Amino acid sequence: MKKKKAFFITFEGPEGCGKTTLITELKRKLKEGGATVTATREPGGPIAAEKIRELILNNPMGAMTELFLYEAARAEHLEKVINPALISHNWVLCDRFTDSTLAYQGYARGLDLKLIKTLNKIATQGIQPNLSVYLDVDPEVGLKRASDPNRFERESLEFHHRVRNGFLSLIKEDPKRWIRLKAFSSSAEKMAESLIAQLEKRLTGLGRKKSEKSRK
Ligand code: TMP
Repeated sequence: MKKKKAFFITFEGPEGCGKTTLITELKRKLKEGGATVTATREPGGPIAAEKIRELILNNPMGAMTELFLYEAARAEHLEKVINPALISHNWVLCDRFTDSTLAYQGYARGLDLKLIKTLNKIATQGIQPNLSVYLDVDPEVGLKRASDPNRFERESLEFHHRVRNGFLSLIKEDPKRWIRLKAFSSSAEKMAESLIAQLEKRLTGLGRKKSEKSRK
C-alpha cells in the first residue's frame, strides 16, 4: 500500500481479544506489500520499558504507582522506538497505548481521567495515533483465554467490564479515530485483509481531501 507519511495505528481491547495475533498478521501482509513496519507493544518496547512491564504485571502496587510506571515506560518507548520509526516514515503498529491507561487506570481503577490525559500528553510528547483499532470481546470470554493469568487478568469480572465500558466511552468521544471490530468474528488473516481495505480507503480519502483543498 502506498503512503507518503508515517502512519501510527494502535490496537486496544479487553483481555484476550486477540490483538497480538491480528497485529502479527497485519504486519506480515503490509510487509508483503513492500511496507516498512515497526510492531511494538505497551508496556514494553525498549529494554527499560520491558523491565517496567515485568515490574507492573507481577508485583502488587498502588494505583498511582502503577499509573506513573505505565507513563514512564511510555516515555521511554516514545523516545527509543515510536518516534524514530515515525521519523523514518514507517508504519507503526502498537499493541495498547494511551487509551489503555484511560480504560484501566481511569475507568476501571477510578483515577482522575483529566490527570491521566495530562500525563499521557507529557509521556507521548503530544504524539497521537492516526487510527485506533478496537477489538471487542465479552470480558468473560476473553479472560478464559489466559493460561497463566497476570495481576490484571486476576482482577474481578466487574473490573474488566469497567475496562470494556471505558473503551466504549472513549470510542464515543472520538469516533472518527476508531475502527471497531468484533474479536474472533473471522480468521486473523481475513480480519487483517479487511483492515487493509479500510486503511486503503482512509488513505486515498485523505489524499483526495488534500488535493481537493489544494485546488481550491
Ligand atoms: P497486554 O496483556 O495486552 O500485553 O497488556 C498488559 C496489561 O497491562 C493488560 O492487562 C492491560 C494493562 N495496561 C494498563 O493497565 N494500562 C496501560 O496503560 C497499558 C498500556 C496496559
